[in-house]
Amino acid sequence: MDIIEIIKTRKSIRKFEKDDIDIEQIRGIIEVSLNAPSGGNSQNWFTYIIKNKDILNRMRNEVEVIYKKVVGKDAPGVYTFFNEAPVVLAVTQKPYIGSLDTILEKTDKNRNYDRKFIVNPGLQSVSSFITHVLLAVHNEGLGACWMTGPLVAKPELEDIIGIKSPDNLVALIPIGKPVERHSKTSRNGVTEMIKVIN
Ligand SMILES: Cc1cc2nc3c(=O)[nH]c(=O)nc-3n(C[C@H](O)[C@H](O)[C@H](O)COP(=O)(O)O)c2cc1C
Repeated sequence: MDIIEIIKTRKSIRKFEKDDIDIEQIRGIIEVSLNAPSGGNSQNWFTYIIKNKDILNRMRNEVEVIYKKVVGKDAPGVYTFFNEAPVVLAVTQKPYIGSLDTILEKTDKNRNYDRKFIVNPGLQSVSSFITHVLLAVHNEGLGACWMTGPLVAKPELEDIIGIKSPDNLVALIPIGKPVERHSKTSRNGVTEMIKVIN
């Protein structure tokens, strides 16, 4: 597949075959995704590759417990299915502080706030890495889903995985051979999504 075909045909996969996935294949996917752009070339991401079923089951259980506690209902399946994949990536964000941040912190609190929490180049950088991972997974004929729902239990998941401050867990990505045969989700037309300023 060429890159355009890969982009056009990628979709979130939430059901997986039981087949194991070779760790070398995952290493390869991550290696190619390291080419993603990042603010100041900070490469402020790190990936835990979790295959241990006991750990994945503990993570799911924690999401269910915390969701019930804070929402008062059972967690939806779209928050909890990740433990059914043969491998799950836990992607963390390392602190990103550009030189501009250090300056704005002293000179302009409002612009500093906007840059940190709205523009958030650190999180944009990790997002670009995750996008590369999803496309590389699809290129390998595997399926994946970008997940932030389970992070309702972020501190508990970080404890189980062993993620320590100042790193922050930002997403889980279950990966496996796809079972799902659903069609692609719809998209807005390009005219609705652009404004040309000549
Ligand atoms: C930041 C982010 C968080 C997401 N979190 C979840 C999630 O927790 N559970 C889930 O099933 N899908 C999650 N998704 C997948 C979206 O639902 C999916 O990308 C969207 O519906 C478009 O479908 P597609 O990926 O098949 O094109 C997430 C996607 C993104 C980008």
